[in-house]
Amino acid sequence: MMRTHTCGQLRATDVGSSTTLCGWVQNNRDHGGVIFIDLRDRHGLTQVVFDKDICGEEGKALADKLRGEWVVQVTGEVRSRGEKNANKNLATGAIEVFAKTLTVLNQAQTPPFEIDEHAKVGEEVRLKSRFLDLRRPAMQKRLIARHKAMQSARRFFDANGFVEVETPALCKYTPGGARNFLVPSRLHQGQFYALAESPQLFKQLLMVAGYDRYVQIAKCFRDEDLRNDRQPEFTQIDLEMSFIDMEDIMGIGEGMARTLWKEVLGVDLPAPFRRMTWTEAMNSYGSDKPDLRFGMPIIDLTDWAPTSGFSVFQKAVEAKGVVRALNAKKANELLSRRTLDTLTEFAKGLGAKGLAWIKIGADPSKAEDWQGPAAKNITPEARAELARRLDVGPGDVLFFGADSFKGVCTVLGAVRVELGRNLLKLAKWDDWQFLWVHSAPLYEWSEESHSFVANHHPFTCPYPEHVQFLASDPGKVLSKSYDMVLNGNEIGGGSIRIHDAATQGAVFRALGISEEEAQKKFGFLLHALSFGAPPHGGMAFGLDRLIMLMTDAESIRDVIAYPKTQRGRDEMLDCPTPVSDRQLKDLHIVTTVQQA
Ligand code: AMO
Ligand code: AMP
Repeated sequence: MMRTHTCGQLRATDVGSSTTLCGWVQNNRDHGGVIFIDLRDRHGLTQVVFDKDICGEEGKALADKLRGEWVVQVTGEVRSRGEKNANKNLATGAIEVFAKTLTVLNQAQTPPFEIDEHAKVGEEVRLKSRFLDLRRPAMQKRLIARHKAMQSARRFFDANGFVEVETPALCKYTPGGARNFLVPSRLHQGQFYALAESPQLFKQLLMVAGYDRYVQIAKCFRDEDLRNDRQPEFTQIDLEMSFIDMEDIMGIGEGMARTLWKEVLGVDLPAPFRRMTWTEAMNSYGSDKPDLRFGMPIIDLTDWAPTSGFSVFQKAVEAKGVVRALNAKKANELLSRRTLDTLTEFAKGLGAKGLAWIKIGADPSKAEDWQGPAAKNITPEARAELARRLDVGPGDVLFFGADSFKGVCTVLGAVRVELGRNLLKLAKWDDWQFLWVHSAPLYEWSEESHSFVANHHPFTCPYPEHVQFLASDPGKVLSKSYDMVLNGNEIGGGSIRIHDAATQGAVFRALGISEEEAQKKFGFLLHALSFGAPPHGGMAFGLDRLIMLMTDAESIRDVIAYPKTQRGRDEMLDCPTPVSDRQLKDLHIVTTVQQA
């Protein structure tokens, strides 16, 4: 070994002993003829002192040459810094190493940015030199938390009788769900593999094969528009179980979350997690992934609106829409007119026609203390009723949405989150509000295709008592589905699956998928279901999202060693790239794009 200790290891109890450290030079300071450097590795920082009486003139001259990010080996004696000079913020702050010998193991160019916690550097620059960015202690902490979470999850599933099975990344294109990446086959001209968007079908087949409890930490690929919580290549903790119902999967999912929070963060989560149906979540929070770190529920006013006196609300109800509102308690002082204008533009950006608001002054019983574009039109009776329903008090600010159910949910749901998180700052990152949102509709009406589309994947099991509506009223059918939500993020989701060919056929028919089409696309699954498929179900956690929340990272890119940018590029490798005509020819592919 080239070292006796790491840079985060030495303590007051080591004073007097000899040590050899290796690491990167964080900085170099000359204090009146004595040189101090901070030596860094992933374990921490140690202060090293070069005093010519101990390291000699030559040693000191060499130390003087050291620059940031040079790699060195230092041998010396551990000494106490004394009460006065101790650095309480550093694990090794009680000691310093008086160097006897110094060896430069490698020099370094001046890095494009400082390897410093507080350095504010653009993300593109960071990603271009990711190896330097990953040297930063904050990034190392995140990747190590990720490692711990993965080990912890594996131990948890192993202890609960799960078998880890790997499934292919190269598989068959199936329509619906996320857009797939396609991979051309060289051996089969004109044919393509799809990169698996999840191991869904394979894990169901493993249940048919009798594996009983499956888990996999699996790479998934989706060619989607990217956001801060989405990558084209991401990781799931994927599981499936046989002879179970919703409760069992939710129990295992909760158990895993509780184990991770305990083992990685040292936090005891309450048991059991809160639950709410999809319908309750949409009605009360305008979202299927409500952030419960703050209240501000959405209140329905559709029956109040026709007599409100405000034509915007009346017209919305005439058009078979809804009118809803939320009350930002005591927010009057915090929300300037300008902020409210910005919020209105934000709502319009989400498709709203407007965002009526009312600011309440000191005395809600006085008409003149109701200010805002909607206030003057509302009749005194309607105002009194509104005050009662929205629990109006001094200094409150009310926001209204009048539109279709979906439109109002989208807008008020987003306004609520914008208020709670950003404008009123009611959310703390480590206030862990876990929630199960379950029993979503099996189908969603798509305005785009003017048909019902599957809300989850088409293998999701309807409640048995709803199967009768599959043909007559598909919108009414609820599914045995569940999402785990944390602070407004969907961190996992799954469902009980259909395990008999008859129900599967009925679900396909309701989706407008013909027998022939179903055979062509999912024939292998239907075939397998006819060979004694056990009742089964499962779920998948988004590992990247879990770690992002656990480490208070702003984006999932910060918890992935080598992520893609928002535009789907790898800045370090500089890819994707064009390939040669020869390579395209081998794959029997012609591109319509002129290569540079
Ligand atoms: P689903 O598509 O809901 O379910 O994915 C499960 C979880 O994976 C995470 N996730 C993502 N994370 C990062 N980038 C993405 N592009 C991305 N897409 C999804 C989310 C999500 O909750 N096979 C089903 C699971 C099942 O039914 O068992 C599935 O893939 O946190
Ligand atoms: P208008 O009558 O269009 O000038 O709008 C009066 C107020 O109602 C403005 O503050 C608009 O932002 C708001 N508003 C208009 N349409 C809607 C709507 N569909 N939902 C909520 N507020 C609206």
